[in-house]
Amino acid sequence: MRKTLVAANWKMHGSKAFAEQLLAELNSGLKSGECSTQVVICPPYPYLGVVGEAIGKAMLGAQNLSEQPSGAYTGEVSAEMLLDCGVRYAIVGHSERRSLYGECNELVAAKYAAAKAAGLIPILCVGESLEEREAGKTLEVVAEQIQAVIALGLPNTWQGAVVAYEPVWAIGTGKTATPEQAQEVHQFIRQQLGEAGAETQILYGGSVKAANAAELFAKADIDGALVGGASLKADEFIKICCAAN
Ligand code: G3H
Repeated sequence: MRKTLVAANWKMHGSKAFAEQLLAELNSGLKSGECSTQVVICPPYPYLGVVGEAIGKAMLGAQNLSEQPSGAYTGEVSAEMLLDCGVRYAIVGHSERRSLYGECNELVAAKYAAAKAAGLIPILCVGESLEEREAGKTLEVVAEQIQAVIALGLPNTWQGAVVAYEPVWAIGTGKTATPEQAQEVHQFIRQQLGEAGAETQILYGGSVKAANAAELFAKADIDGALVGGASLKADEFIKICCAAN
């Protein structure tokens, strides 16, 4: 039986005071005992410390990492550094990294390998653009993104990893994939992962909110969510976490 997991991706939002306030509200909301889902909070790098100190029952995640172990890579942050700061999870290949910062499948795969090598749990994001969906290429695009990781031939490629299906057209748009659309791709992803598929947590991301979380989580292959905008509001995020129980 897979555990459910809800991860908050704050993206480039917030401040130190905001982080402290939100964590205080999340801690009291999640402590109520009714919420048994695993919760991961991924703040911007500068706030990892302040969030880590107040993390409570949740776990700390990063939004990105370098594919390099160390060296002259100005502005980059390595997996070991993240681990050293108490980080347990790292988002890899978010669509904003892919589209705005030119991260190709091969670079994303290298970041995935770097996270795993250091003992971080990568949250590998995959998903198609609207154009790709309309051209009937959703499964092909997702398969290519996953195959780039498989091609590295890592030992136990998917052990200690999470996959997030995030259709690009649903991110920050208010347009959620229907539970049926999401389930179809989640089931396909699980098949792509081979034997490890049955054990691997697969999250849905894209305009998840309290009002649509339960119907998404009711689907057999949806194990939780990667939440952007709604993770910045304590009430809303707590409701999503509890809906994943
Ligand atoms: O990482 C989170 C996703 O990009 C979803 O963002 O919930 O604001 O649509 P959103």
